[in-house]
Order: sequence, then structure tokens, then C-alpha cells
Amino acid sequence: MKLKIGNINATELAKTYNTPLYVYNKQTILKRINELKTNFPNTNICYAIKANNNQEILKLISEQNLGADCSNANEIKMAQKANFKIENSIYTAVNPTNEDLEYALKSKIKINCDDISVFKRLLEIGKPKIISFRINPGFGKGKFPSIVVGGHGTKFGMNEDLAREAYRLAKEKGIKRFGIHMMTGSGVNYQEYFTELTNTIQEIAKRIGDATNIEFEFMDIGGGIGVPYEPHEKQLDIEAIGRSVEKAFKHKAKLMIEPGKYIVAESGTLLTTVTTIKNNFIGVDAGMATLIRPALYGAYHPILLANNIDAEFTQEANIVGPICENTDFFAKNRAMPKVEEGDILAIEVAGAYGFVMASSYNGVLKPAEVLVNNNHHQLIRQREEI
Ligand SMILES: Cc1ncc(COP(=O)(O)O)c(C=O)c1O
Repeated sequence: MKLKIGNINATELAKTYNTPLYVYNKQTILKRINELKTNFPNTNICYAIKANNNQEILKLISEQNLGADCSNANEIKMAQKANFKIENSIYTAVNPTNEDLEYALKSKIKINCDDISVFKRLLEIGKPKIISFRINPGFGKGKFPSIVVGGHGTKFGMNEDLAREAYRLAKEKGIKRFGIHMMTGSGVNYQEYFTELTNTIQEIAKRIGDATNIEFEFMDIGGGIGVPYEPHEKQLDIEAIGRSVEKAFKHKAKLMIEPGKYIVAESGTLLTTVTTIKNNFIGVDAGMATLIRPALYGAYHPILLANNIDAEFTQEANIVGPICENTDFFAKNRAMPKVEEGDILAIEVAGAYGFVMASSYNGVLKPAEVLVNNNHHQLIRQREEI
């Protein structure tokens, strides 16, 4: 059987648009958004634009009435262009430039400062109506050490004592509306974690609120909802997570979440052509410049032979790209069927942190992107040209 994306053969897409090619299934994105909206009915859901910022994908998500989670002025501009409601969106400023802060202030997005020094810089530029601070609660979780962003030794957020000072300063300066934020890691596959975060943020908010006499308008527990990449990983029970998080959230503030991966990861497939078979190396035309997650984190992505997904495994192979680095691999010792030069491989679960992390290393040109909706396909980013 041939691999289908929507109702279209992946090999046909590869022929039409050439490879390497990112293909996204619109229906998968809509399904994930619907699940979130259904299971977090009282929560403000902001899509983390960093996961995939293709304008067509952003428009699709903003049409579902989600807010945006932005990490710099460019992402705020992308969100505005895609018609996200900026008042419902949030900007987390990690080591921002003054230009970023100035743009954010003008845009009226909720600003979430990662440090008191950032807030002091912001005050020199202007005074926001509402301010939030990112707390580092001293712990974090994530699929790989590099994507745990809470806990000791990480660069993100402030401890509670410093955050309390920041809220005091904000109040002294006449700011009257407040939020509080935590983002502690990505790719979390442990369901109970999100309820633990919800409890922690309320406890911290209570202590800070009591000490400073401020009320919080929103509490944001960040993104991090994991998706299955590896054969042994299961889809999280999003219904149970939503129910448990909303039940644990007792505060009258608005609860916020910032999922990226959960919304777009599974929608994406990277199609790549086998160029070279050399011993047990299968060389393909995509590499770490196209999808860096395996080289960067040792991340696992399922890899299928697109023209025959049922073919029996007959070998253990290394699947590698054309880049001059020994880290340029997609899989090591992976059970694979017989593969021939010219075959199309489908690297799955590539919709998040895929194209957005692509680079021009070795003079590689960025791939094209295509959106599939059932029987239709549409080019949503031209292949880069020299
Ligand atoms: C502040 C913030 N929010 C949300 C996210 C999205 O995380 P995920 O894609 O794991 O949901 C990230 C990812 O790094 C982040 O830094």
C-alpha cells in the first residue's frame, strides 16, 4: 500500500513538487485544535508560533479563534498578519532587544517578562497596561535535556523571590493588571504533569498575591503537551488532561496554555528521495539542514517507505543526509525494508520544529511546503532558489 496524506498519494506529491518537501495535513491540525477546545473549554489557548510559522498554517489556526504565543517582534508581526487577536495573545520576552519590547508594547500584546531586568528596560520604553512574569518553579520536564526549560541551571524565568520583587515594582509604577506564567519543558508525555503545573502556579500566585496585594487576571502554564514519536509512545489522553487541569484550576483568573507541538507535529511529513545506497547507509536528499531534530536532540521520527508502507523489514540501516557533519542522520540502525535509489521516504511527525529550524548550512536551499486538505493540495511555500 502507498502512503496517503489526506487522500493523496505521498509519491504523487513528491513527483509534483519535488523533494525534500514538507507536507501538512489540514485535517490533523483541525482535529488537534478541536480536541483542545473541547477539553479545555474555559482556557485561553494560544498557539506557540515557533513550532511552525508558515502563514497559511497560522491563518488556519487563527481562524479557529486561538490566540498566539510569540517569542519576538517578528512572531508578533506574523501573528498580526495571520489575523490572530493580539489582545488574546502573549509575548514571552527572553533576552529581548529594546526594539522587540517597543514593538510588543505598541502592539498591545500581553508582555511576559523573563527577568526583572527586562521589565526595567521595558519601563524605560513605556508602561504596559498589563504585565506578566515568567516563573521558574525550580523544576522542569521534557523529552530531551535540551528541551527542559525549567529548573536550576536553565536560562529561563525568575525564581519566586525575584518575581515577587518584579510584581512589587510593577505595582509601584502604577500597573494594575497582572498575569503569571510558567513554561517548564516541551514534549512532556506524563499526563499528571499538567495538573501539577496548574497546582504549582496557583500556589505561587497565592503567595505572591498575598505578599504584594495584587490580583492575577491570567495564569499561563505554557506549552509542552507531548505527542507520540516512537513506536512505544501513546497518544496522551487529552480529555483526561483537560478535565483534570480545569478541575484543579480554582482561581477566578483566566487559565492559559501555549501548545505548539500538540497542534502541528503530527500533521507534518517530510518527503525525501533516496539518492544513494552505500553499505548500510541510505542517503537521502533531506538532511540536518532540512530537519535538525534528530541531529540536535537525538530525536526519533518514524520513517516509512512511501511507495510501499507494508513492505517487510529486511535490514538495519542508517538513514543519512547530504550534509558534511557526522551528526547528519535521521535514524541509526533502523529496521527498514529493502530500499532503492529513487524511492521516496516519509519522515513522519515533522510538523513542529521542522521547517522553522531549517538552515542554509552547506548552501542547502529551504524546501517547499504543501498543505493537503482531503483531495486537494496547495503549495504554501515556494522552494527556495539560489
Ligand atoms: C514560552 C513557550 N511557550 C510554548 C512553547 C511551546 O511548547 P510545545 O511546542 O512543547 O507545546 C514553547 C516552546 O519552546 C515556549 O518556549
